[in-house]
Amino acid sequence: MPLGFIQTFWGELVLSSFSAKPVSLLPSVLGLHSVVDMVVATLDIRDPYTSEHSHRVAGLAELLAEAMALSPEQCRLVHYAAHLHDIGKIGVSDSTLNKIGKLTAEEMAEMQAHSEIGAMILSKNPEFTLLAEIVRHHHERWDGKGYPDGISGDAIPLESRIIGLADAFDAMTSDRPYRAHKTHEWALEEIKKHAGSQFCPECVSIFLTLRAKLKLNQYQSSKRAFSHHQANVRHHTLMHSQRIRSMPTRH
Ligand SMILES: [Fe+2]
Repeated sequence: MPLGFIQTFWGELVLSSFSAKPVSLLPSVLGLHSVVDMVVATLDIRDPYTSEHSHRVAGLAELLAEAMALSPEQCRLVHYAAHLHDIGKIGVSDSTLNKIGKLTAEEMAEMQAHSEIGAMILSKNPEFTLLAEIVRHHHERWDGKGYPDGISGDAIPLESRIIGLADAFDAMTSDRPYRAHKTHEWALEEIKKHAGSQFCPECVSIFLTLRAKLKLNQYQSSKRAFSHHQANVRHHTLMHSQRIRSMPTRH
């Protein structure tokens, strides 16, 4: 029988004739799926308002990706990236994140840094390289006037363009403390107006064909929202939830 060391109650290492069974102390598989869930849960605790917005954007972006005939794998990628697109807001101070009213230039710069911070966080895991790239560019504009890199047109990853559009639609159709939500029709007209400047024209033309589904909020159905994971940590009973939920999310 092979000999091995065991630790006694007092911390001494003594020889033992027991052969230690190999017990893994670390998860054997750190799948993309479970890591996304973990990161999304972190955002939900830090900022439930942004988390709920991201949850809707994930459904909406995936719907658009499907309508654009992206592969099932790409659609899932879009879904995950949409959930994570504002994860960098973890790095934005409460005073800026929760400010009601106009941001100063300095605060605006801090807020805009969220896309780079998000990409930096995600890039720590080599499996998240693509997701990091998509998140980095979700505020680029078709005409190159976006951030952080000011890239334009097809140079912006398609997934980022899809998420940027879904993000804008949800932002316009959601209630904010400083303004009521706009109607779906109003938001669609606004998006149409900015096709070719802010938004990818191809994404817009397909998005407009989804009008009926958007009206029915089909992208928010429980089937779609929970089709890939169960990350939505519902903790609205936490004391801070109500306070943060009443604060604006800026885009
Ligand atoms: Fe964002």
